[in-house]
Amino acid sequence: MKKLVVLDFGGQYAHLIATRIRHMGVYSEIHFPSSDPSAVADLGGVIFSGGPSSVYDADRPEFNPKWLEVAAPILGLCYGHHTINQELGGHVQRGEVHEFGPADLEHDGTSPLFVGIASPTRVWMSHGDEVDRLPDGFRVSGTTTNCRHAAVENVEAKRFGLQFHPEVVHSVDGEKMLANFLDFCGFARDWNMGDYAETLMEKVRAQAAGQKVFLLVSGGVDSTVAFELLNKALGPDRVLGLHIDNGLMRQSESAGVMEFMHAQGFDNLRINDASELFLSRLEGVWEPEKKRKIIGDTFLDVQAEETARLGLNPSEWLLAQGTIYPDTIESGGTAHAATIKTHHNRVPAILALIEAGRILEPLAELYKDEVRALGEKLGIPRDLVWRHPFPGPGLGVRLLCQTAPFPRVAEADLVAAQAVARQHSYAVSALPVRSVGVQGDGRTYAQPAVLQGPGDWKSLEETATALTNRVRAFNRVVWQLGGGLEFTPHDAWTSRSRLELLRTLDDAVTQWLRDHGHYQTIWQMPVVLLPVHCGGKEVVVLRPVISREAMTASFWQAPMAQLPSLTQKLLSLGAGAVFWDITHKPPGTIEWE
Ligand code: XMP
Repeated sequence: MKKLVVLDFGGQYAHLIATRIRHMGVYSEIHFPSSDPSAVADLGGVIFSGGPSSVYDADRPEFNPKWLEVAAPILGLCYGHHTINQELGGHVQRGEVHEFGPADLEHDGTSPLFVGIASPTRVWMSHGDEVDRLPDGFRVSGTTTNCRHAAVENVEAKRFGLQFHPEVVHSVDGEKMLANFLDFCGFARDWNMGDYAETLMEKVRAQAAGQKVFLLVSGGVDSTVAFELLNKALGPDRVLGLHIDNGLMRQSESAGVMEFMHAQGFDNLRINDASELFLSRLEGVWEPEKKRKIIGDTFLDVQAEETARLGLNPSEWLLAQGTIYPDTIESGGTAHAATIKTHHNRVPAILALIEAGRILEPLAELYKDEVRALGEKLGIPRDLVWRHPFPGPGLGVRLLCQTAPFPRVAEADLVAAQAVARQHSYAVSALPVRSVGVQGDGRTYAQPAVLQGPGDWKSLEETATALTNRVRAFNRVVWQLGGGLEFTPHDAWTSRSRLELLRTLDDAVTQWLRDHGHYQTIWQMPVVLLPVHCGGKEVVVLRPVISREAMTASFWQAPMAQLPSLTQKLLSLGAGAVFWDITHKPPGTIEWE
């Protein structure tokens, strides 16, 4: 079967291209720009992704120019467009106008990429550089007000370049343009998830040849699908699953995982209650990245201990993980991306094992929606496949800790925030804690602003966006649903009693979602307990989001009328105040740490 190769030049959304192409029924793989095209069989087309570098930077990603000699058609997007033009004899320079966001593309309808697409059409730009001279044989096929070379092509040579990003949903006809490119390449749309399951299993068999595989099974969607895939690919005799109860799981989670696995007929799954060890190592630790590292390392220690207890020879056993693509990119794990937070399956000890070729990650190229489609193909019940994502470090990153000195926003920032909030009739103050955010492709760690005032989603959204755009001290905004108005920070750690309260509140929220038929509407709804007292009790934040692959997300605007009963429930269960997180991602990440 012919495949489309995406060369990843380091753009945050590069893998979206491959996902979109697979959704259109064409098999697609990611390769490094430095790789050798002659090693790729059945090449039907190539897309060069965008990326954060400039083609004239000394430290730009290494590119093998042989890619431009392949017979298959090539489409370059943004940085990829610059690469094609520069390498074939054109020229790229820093543009006078930097474009971010919408632009209207005008074209004459003759390009194979624009068949069936009206002119003008709304496209999404994000660039500082531009092509100022085309290579011989190229022509301009589309322009925008600020970009003369928004679309260029040499149809005879089968080379195309687009300055904008057809892969993002904000480019209105972007998907059609990609589909037109696939037609130009002559792809039949005959690939589906079932075939992919086969391809993945073949890959697993090759990678695990002569070895056995040890997989940590949290019971979440990813590790469950990975476990099922490994069992099908290698047979249960060569697979051992280990569920580690780290004490940071949700209500009755570990028992539920074991019950489900046994019902599925798996008897090659063990359980290890290591909650004591995890909680003792987390004592006195408050920094989010430190907590993540301790949790990630402890998983490995417990796994090693279990290996020793069972007398397994480590050189015969690979360690498998249910890592999916966003875990890698957000941990700064691709060639040119920044670290936002270190996912538990990307701690240094794991990276060393990856270097040594001891880690197997069959789902590492996939986004969550693809993992779910794969899970359904493998026969995993819908209920489990469509469970909300739950982070590997579990409630550990939802139980915020801190010690004095507590954060305080500067008076000037508060005054600036008040000026913004007043325009929409809200009172604003700062919560004395910090959370992680992602802004301009980098990590932030700052205080949340809290709004009190009218329950109108539109003005809440506008106020939150204006606040995080204009006042740098805030990377997140919450809206108060109920409880007292005095917030006092206090020293707090990961303790069994705080975890117990968080579990109770989390369970009530999940129940509420199910009872009101909202569970499948949203991506997930983290419940976060803060080391802040209100009336002597800790305050809780609800963080429901809508998302497609968790790289970006918008906060969920629930039916207003249903919120008071939820708030009352949480207050009655022991919360001092209840907040609704009204921050999109970016600028806030989904989880608070
Ligand atoms: P953030 O907080 O980075 O989360 O916006 C994006 C998605 O990833 C989940 N998440 C994790 N998943 N290990 C995981 O397997 C982790 O360490 C981890 N941290 C965050 C998060 O729940 C959301 O769906």
